Amino acid sequence: MSVQQTLSIIKPDAVRRNLIGKINDRIESADLKIIAQKMIRLTKEHAMAFYDVHAERSFYNDLCSNMTLGPIVAQVLDGENAIERYREVMGATNPGSAAPGTIRHEFGESVDFNSVHGSDSPETALKEIAFFFSRIELHR
Ligand code: RTP
Ligand code: MG
Repeated sequence: MSVQQTLSIIKPDAVRRNLIGKINDRIESADLKIIAQKMIRLTKEHAMAFYDVHAERSFYNDLCSNMTLGPIVAQVLDGENAIERYREVMGATNPGSAAPGTIRHEFGESVDFNSVHGSDSPETALKEIAFFFSRIELHR
C-alpha cells in the first residue's frame, strides 16, 4: 500500500440537495484528506470528454447530460490506498446495492443519481485529476 491521490466528484444531484458538507464529513471521517476542491459547472462537451471511456455504453448520453444539470464539486483526496478506500466509502454504483454506511447507500437516489464519482485505478486517477486541476492547485 502507498499514499495515493484520487479524483472525487460530488455530482449535481448531491450538490442540489445540499449534501456537500455531509459528503465531505464522510470523506474526512474515513481519514482521506481533501487537498484540492473546486465547484464548477460542466458543459456537455466537458462531461463527454471526462467519461469518454464509457462512450460505447448505453448510459453514456444520459450520464453526460446528468452531469450538466447543475454545479459539481471536483476534489482530490489524498491518503493511504486512497483510490480503493474511497471506492469503499462511496459504495456500489447502484445505491440499492450499496452497503449501509456508504455515501451512495445514505445519499444516492438511483444509479443515474448516485451522488459521487471516484477514480477506479491509479491510471484513471492521474488522468482524472489532471482533467480538473493544475499542479499549482495540488497541495499536500
Ligand atoms: P463513477 O465512475 O461515477 O465513480 O461510478 P462507478 O465507477 O461506480 O460506475 P461506472 O461503471 O464507471 O459508471 C459511471 C456512472 O454511469 C452511471 N451508470 N449508469 N444505467 C446504468 O446502467 C448505469 N451504469 C452506470 C452511474 O451514474 C455511474 O456512476
Ligand atoms: Mg467509474
